[in-house]
Amino acid sequence: MLILLAGGAGYIGSHTAVELMAAGHDVVIVDNYSNSSPEVIKRIEELAGRSVTACEADVRDSSAMRLIMKANPVDCVVHFAGLKAVGESMRKPVEYYRNNIDTTLTLLECMKECGVHNFVFSSSATVYGEENPYPYVETMPRGSCSNPYGWTKFMMEQILEDASRADPELSVILLRYFNPIGAHPSGRMGEDPQGIPNNLMPYVAQVAVGRRDHLTIFGNDYPTPDGTCRRDYIHVMDLAAGHVKAVEYAATRKGTDIFNLGTGTPCSVLDIVRAFEKNSGVPIKYEFGPRREGDLPEFWANADKARTVLGWTAARTLDDMCRDTWNWQRNNPKGYAS
Ligand code: NAD
Ligand code: WQD
Repeated sequence: MLILLAGGAGYIGSHTAVELMAAGHDVVIVDNYSNSSPEVIKRIEELAGRSVTACEADVRDSSAMRLIMKANPVDCVVHFAGLKAVGESMRKPVEYYRNNIDTTLTLLECMKECGVHNFVFSSSATVYGEENPYPYVETMPRGSCSNPYGWTKFMMEQILEDASRADPELSVILLRYFNPIGAHPSGRMGEDPQGIPNNLMPYVAQVAVGRRDHLTIFGNDYPTPDGTCRRDYIHVMDLAAGHVKAVEYAATRKGTDIFNLGTGTPCSVLDIVRAFEKNSGVPIKYEFGPRREGDLPEFWANADKARTVLGWTAARTLDDMCRDTWNWQRNNPKGYAS
């Protein structure tokens, strides 16, 4: 199949591109490089061993997207092209709603015009909100989100469900990612945040490589086994493999279906620090700070549905996640600019 990856030069899109090509599919990547770089395309080609069609465009630009879809007989669109920093979304809500909602609407309109019927969407565990008990199951209602980023995912899920209800030809798969970390085992691709990382794993990796002095752990008085928050961290290569299954499944059915992509196992901030130290051999300096506003004490996935319906499970361990992150970080201390 030919898969259009909107935002395919980003962290999750780039790993998915390599996995799709390894499974025999072809990809067209559309990205405006607002949070990535063209260097990523070279790395994808290097790892896949063949060339990729890459178009520099804003996914909100409907004339550009129409031209791209008319020039390439796309079977499925995977939509990664979003702004994703929770804190930034609170300072720039309009930018987040504009980018995230508009990209989704533009893709749906152009797909309809060009006869493309399969859509796989990068959603997030954040849509379970603050009220649902964990582990989260796909049948739970979406909850209320604590920030505009989360609301964009909530709204985009609703838009996609409505679109598929109205169009009997449309197949929509909502993938709710938990906490993606790790990197390609080659050390050639990984997460490359701009500025100070918001997320835990890239921050830990930058402390290890000497770019940051120490990690501040946000709270150690939570009602969890060691007092630090627990999350469901998932290797980005497992996540990428989940996309291959989802793209293939999308082509076999109609309507909306939802899948959690997580391991089903919670892990604390201190577990991450210890596992990273073990796998890198580098001590991580940290101190405890106050809780971060909006953080839930813990949550993780019930990942049964992806196993039974898609035949997918997360195979990689926390040690794999830390080893591959460190391999990427130490070989590319400044990310793709190294
Ligand atoms: P990323 O920022 O690395 O990748 C997103 C890509 O989209 C970037 O390359 C960026 O340049 C591009 N992009 C953004 N707006 C665009 C636009 N208007 N036109 C063209 N390109 C545009 O993020 P990621 O971590 O790879 O996440 C991918 C998707 O998964 C996002 O939608 C994100 O919200 C979602 N998600 C991520 C996580 C996570 O922790 N990384 C968790 C849950 C969901
Ligand atoms: C993990 C844990 C922090 C940084 C976010 C989004 C979510 C999804 C994934 C997109 C928490 C702690 C972190 C630090 C720390 N993204 N931490 N010190 O908040 O679970 O999820 O990314 O959809 O929507 O909210 O991930 O990596 O930021 O934090 O102690 O410097 O690490 O408190 O417990 P989070 P995270």
